[in-house]
Amino acid sequence: LLGTYGDDNKTPVYVVGGFVRDLFLGIKNFDIDLVVEGNGIEFARYASKQLGVKMVEHEKFLTASLFFKDGFRIDIATARTEYYDKPAELPKVDVSTIKKDLYRRDFTINAMAIKLNSGEFGTLYDFFGSRKDLENKIIRVLHKLSFIEDPTRIIRAVRFEQRFDFKIEDETLEILKETLEGNYLEKVTGQRIRQELEKIIKEKDPVKGIKRLAELKILMHIFPKTYFTTTMEKKLKNMLVSFDLLKNIYTKRNIFYAFLRILLEFYDMESLKNVEERYGIPKKFVDELKKTERRLIPVIEMIKTRIKFSDIYKVIGKPIFETATHIMAYLDDNNSREYFKKYLERVFSTKLNIKGNILKDKFNIKSSPEIGKIMNSIFCYKLDNPNINEMEKLKELL
Ligand code: CTP
Repeated sequence: LLGTYGDDNKTPVYVVGGFVRDLFLGIKNFDIDLVVEGNGIEFARYASKQLGVKMVEHEKFLTASLFFKDGFRIDIATARTEYYDKPAELPKVDVSTIKKDLYRRDFTINAMAIKLNSGEFGTLYDFFGSRKDLENKIIRVLHKLSFIEDPTRIIRAVRFEQRFDFKIEDETLEILKETLEGNYLEKVTGQRIRQELEKIIKEKDPVKGIKRLAELKILMHIFPKTYFTTTMEKKLKNMLVSFDLLKNIYTKRNIFYAFLRILLEFYDMESLKNVEERYGIPKKFVDELKKTERRLIPVIEMIKTRIKFSDIYKVIGKPIFETATHIMAYLDDNNSREYFKKYLERVFSTKLNIKGNILKDKFNIKSSPEIGKIMNSIFCYKLDNPNINEMEKLKELL
């Protein structure tokens, strides 16, 4: 259908990038990127009118997106050559042909196009040996300046390598290393690095991805004080297991911050401040990290020795998701994990039936701190004994 819209406008239309790559790999991909040789925005307007769907235009980049009702989306771009005023900055855009458009892309595997116009529907455009690289499982840049033009591709190379179990080709690896050593990653905004890191963490095996980032010395250009050790790897793996264990307990969960907790553990305040500013990490995150770090060793001991819930509660209270996964990262055996999971379930489900008012009205206790203390004692007692009679316990306490 989109091809015939191209016919109507006398403009060649291609599906490009990840969609074509995944087509050849036999992987489902619902992200469709179209490139139009001509005016992409006009084409998008025409298509959105014909299909009756919502459209958003990005004039500056000559792109537009169509949004379908079921969340499905198509991005439409004008074939373009990008040129870079300065390395590591967002590119300037010029109208161009499909070949040049594909040449500016990150890797050969992402640089194929399939034509959609009716006469040539389904014709593959593979100018740079993309299919061969796909068959040989190789990640290869299209030209020497690729990483300098966009250093986030350094992280993308690792992501695709890990996702498809491919290998970064030797010369590409050399260029990658040179770009790294030239500190080009440091020239990119923290926001763009963070986006790529988040994508690595969303992959099937994020620990493998992070390990590879460390192996290639990429990680130290992102987090200079992080040393990826076997202990850290173990912790990350434990944490991964815990995401599943905790899925019914926490609805609000930030997996990226959970990973950061381990990667930034034991950072000094100054280094933490630098990371915080560069990657837009909230101060709240840093405060929580520091708070947890101090309590970590005692809590782990308490869990391992199966100390009662009320004692654990006195140290960590009701932890947020990232704190809970941080603790889980230190638990190697299933029984300890289960015990901590039980603790969390208990702590979030325990509610007192009696209210503080009763202490005021019936027992004539007026001081709020004192009321708070008594209520907390009953809560703690109930954590260990879920079936207590609260009223009786209250009388006993008074
Ligand atoms: N691209 C690029 N350089 C980048 C980012 C993207 O050349 N730094 C190009 C690639 O050709 C890529 C396309 O833009 O195929 C779309 O990018 P993106 O959606 O990020 O990646 P996909 O290849 O679709 O991968 P994924 O399956 O992870 O969505």
